[in-house]
Amino acid sequence: MLLDFRPYEFCAWPSEKAALDEVDISLRDDKKRISVVAVVDDRAAGWVAGFQTYSHAFELHPMVVRFETQRRGIGRRLLEVFEEKAREMGALTVYLGSDDHICATSLGGRPLFPDVLSHLSELENLKGHPYEFYLKCGYEIIGILPDANGEGQPDIWLAKSLIGVRRPEEVDI
Ligand SMILES: CC(C)(COP(=O)(O)OP(=O)(O)OC[C@H]1O[C@@H](n2cnc3c(N)ncnc32)[C@H](O)[C@@H]1OP(=O)(O)O)[C@@H](O)C(=O)NCCC(=O)NCCS
Repeated sequence: MLLDFRPYEFCAWPSEKAALDEVDISLRDDKKRISVVAVVDDRAAGWVAGFQTYSHAFELHPMVVRFETQRRGIGRRLLEVFEEKAREMGALTVYLGSDDHICATSLGGRPLFPDVLSHLSELENLKGHPYEFYLKCGYEIIGILPDANGEGQPDIWLAKSLIGVRRPEEVDI
């Protein structure tokens, strides 16, 4: 799934080794980590992982749903389970960065300094950038790191509060 990463394939992991390293990292026990896999017809259909970065916040990375099974609610369900686990481990906030490498939003391909936040307030989705998926799952945009991946390639930051989040009725997908 990390090697494919459609329709955001330009963000795919560059080699099988790099993808397997990412899986290995998610299984280390050096930090508080969460890894949730969705299984459809005995095959992995989606994966979300993340780890504790602050006393009460978890960073989510990576997040992927197999292309053939996208838009069926699997991504939303993976986030729900991840958030529930993070809450059980003491997190109050889950956050993530969502890169824009290809001008998929109005924030790509242009200088964002000065007045970064006024550019952010005019954010538009031009080519199906996944930030909208997170908005639909209750996340809010909390900031942007201009030129994080090269000139004109920012990272959009989103977060969700877990305070008051309800337990999902069941976790099977
Ligand atoms: C982004 C991704 C994880 C979404 O997973 P998914 O299983 O397709 O999402 P869901 O079916 O649970 O969608 C939940 C809602 O978000 C919407 N949505 C999903 N992807 C979207 C996108 N790219 N743009 C706008 N809305 C999107 C769905 O239509 C649905 O809306 P609804 O509640 O109105 O029905 C998946 O498309 C993916 O793996 N993409 C490639 C990798 C990637 O971009 N990862 C994120 C990196 S930050």
